[in-house]
Order: sequence, then C-alpha cells, then structure tokens
Amino acid sequence: MNYGPLIFLAAFFALAASWFGLVLTPQMQVGHLTQTNTVPAEETYPLARMGLARQGLDVYRANGCAYCHSQQIGQTATVCNVVLAGAGTNKTALIQALLTLKTNWSEAQAAEFVAKLPQPVVESVTREEADVALKALKVGGAKSELWVVPVGPDIARGWGKRRSVAEDFLYDSPVMLGSQRIGPDLADVGTRKADVEWHLRHLYAPAVEVNGSLMPPYRFLFERRRIERARSPDALALAGKLAPETGYEVVPTPKATALAAYLVSLRADVPLYHTPLTVAAPPASTNEVKAPGVTGTNTPGMTGTNGPGTALTNSPGAAVTNAAGGAGVKSNSASATKAPAK
Ligand code: HEC
Repeated sequence: MNYGPLIFLAAFFALAASWFGLVLTPQMQVGHLTQTNTVPAEETYPLARMGLARQGLDVYRANGCAYCHSQQIGQTATVCNVVLAGAGTNKTALIQALLTLKTNWSEAQAAEFVAKLPQPVVESVTREEADVALKALKVGGAKSELWVVPVGPDIARGWGKRRSVAEDFLYDSPVMLGSQRIGPDLADVGTRKADVEWHLRHLYAPAVEVNGSLMPPYRFLFERRRIERARSPDALALAGKLAPETGYEVVPTPKATALAAYLVSLRADVPLYHTPLTVAAPPASTNEVKAPGVTGTNTPGMTGTNGPGTALTNSPGAAVTNAAGGAGVKSNSASATKAPAK
C-alpha cells in the first residue's frame, strides 16, 4: 500500500501546528504592540530611547553584558495597602473605625495615628480585605486611598517596582533580555543608579565602586591620554592605584559614553494598565518617607505619649527608655516608681 500522501499530510500538520504555536501566536500577541498610556497620568509609554542611549544598546550587546545581566523583573503577586490620607471632620468616629480594624490598638494609639496622616492602615492584604478596610474608614469625610503594590523576590531585592512587560522593550531591537544573573537585573538600573559618572567609573573599575565586585573591568572602552592644554571635563576622577600618572588622564570613548547613557535610560517604573502599581504623587511623597518606617513611627510615637499613658503595655517603648537612660539609674527608677502609681 502506498502511504506517501498520508505521511506527507502527517508531516504537514505537525509542522503547521508548530508554526501556529511558535511563530503565528507570539506574532499576534506581541508583534503589533504599539505605544500605550501610563495609568493614571495618561502619558505615552514607552518613548524611543534618545540617540546616544540607542547607540549604547549596541555597545551593551557587543560586549556581552547580557551574559551576566538579565533585564526582566519578575513579580509573584500584587497586594494592597490602605492608606489613610485625611482625617475628615469626625475624628471620634474615625478613631472608632480604626479600632475595629486594629483590635490591639488603644484609643490613645489610634488618636496618635490620626494625628500623623497620611499613613497606611493595613498593608499587604488582598483586594477583598482592603475593600473591607476602605468601607470601614468611610466615616466623617475621612479620605483613604487604595495602594497597589507588586511583590516578589526581584522587587524585594530592589531591582524594580513592577514586573517587566513587552512594552518596556518596544524600541529595543534586538532585545537583550539575558537569562543569567551573575550580576543584578538591569531592567530598572536607571532609577537606582542615575549618575552617568558612576556608571563610567564602575565600567572602568567595578571593584572600586563596589567592594569585591566580580564584574570584569571594561578598560578598553576608555582611553588613557596625555593632557594637552587642560584636563578634559570628561576625564574620570580616579584615585589611588588606578589614577593615571601625572600629565595623563583617562577619558571615556564614545562607546563608553553611549553605554552609560543607555544604562541610565533603563527605567521600568511607570504603572501600566496591565501592571498596576501606585506611585506616590508629588504632594503625597511624604508617604514614601513614612511608609517604610510605619512601625518605626508608631513605636517612638508611643513612647512619646507614654509618659502618662500606656507605658505598661508597651514593652518596646519600655526597652527604649531603659536603653536610653541606661546609665541613668534615675530615669529607670523614676519610671519604676511611676509604674505602680498608675
Ligand atoms: C562576568 C559577569 C558580568 C559581565 C559580563 C558584566 N557584569 Fe555588570 N555586574 C556583574 C556583577 C557580579 C555585578 C554586581 C557587583 C557590582 O555592582 O559591581 C555587576 C554590576 C553591574 C552594574 C551595577 C548594578 C547595580 O544595581 O548596582 C551595572 C550597571 C553593570 N553591572 C553593567 C554592566 C555592563 C554595562 C556590562 C557590559 C559592558 C556588564 N555589566 C557586564 C557581573 C557582570
């Protein structure tokens, strides 16, 4: 029997199926990506890299940076924080509402909290739990906000604020995503290291900028030359063993300048529709300072009111007073005499 046509059809379908799966579907998913808008600012994203930074991508590729650095941040989940931004008019009702959410708080602690807004009330909860808190805090015109916070190991390392998405690379062709992570992820390196000079010195001598760095130096991207009339403004500020002999200077070649421009242009910190993230608005930027120290602000705050108030329940506060007054037996005995008096 002649199986020829059957074998041909089987091979055809096998190849066609893999073409659909591996070529056509990805092309339909990301092949027609266009610029999108940031949320809620509605700014166009992404913008093409500036000329020098665009050239830097080629230098990045040519020097194999992607062998040790990835440019894709992962994220495991999104959690919610509820931030109380304004107390409104009815403070008593607000304090009662806070006490329903924070059952272990005393009324004095809640009042202390309300005096120092904006502050997060609940952190790292699901959307449902956040909605419960938001509803509870809707009293007397109090203003509370829902913050969306991406979490995951990469974000905990400080490598970025949200996961990388295809749009981030819209104008990078070819994309140097990388898969090895001998060094840190660079998808958002421009926000944590925005200084071009730092990048140049780091490329010239990584171990000088970062103690014990394993990154190889890229000295061939720099030129050591005799100072002609005056020192070049671009010359690297090098000290110690690396400093060139007198009369000489080390200047970056155009390749190094382009690479540094590319590195500072690497930013993936804007919120998009499919990777939501709450960015502190300029007036709310005090939040950023306060947010990490929420527990911190509470504890000193508690010791502050403590004198007359809740000293007995407050063990961390007690420890602080002891430590501070360590040598001062007086302060210890003072609080000791005060305590029974309560
Ligand atoms: C052999 C692996 C390796 C190669 C290749 C490599 N790096 Fe690195 N890189 C590292 C390591 C390890 C670190 C972490 C230590 C440090 O900061 O110096 C690092 C750190 C960095 C940092 C600082 C990141 C931060 O968050 O502080 C930048 C920027 C950087 N590398 C850029 C580059 C560029 C650009 C290239 C290509 C010219 C490159 N690296 C090639 C290993 C490498």
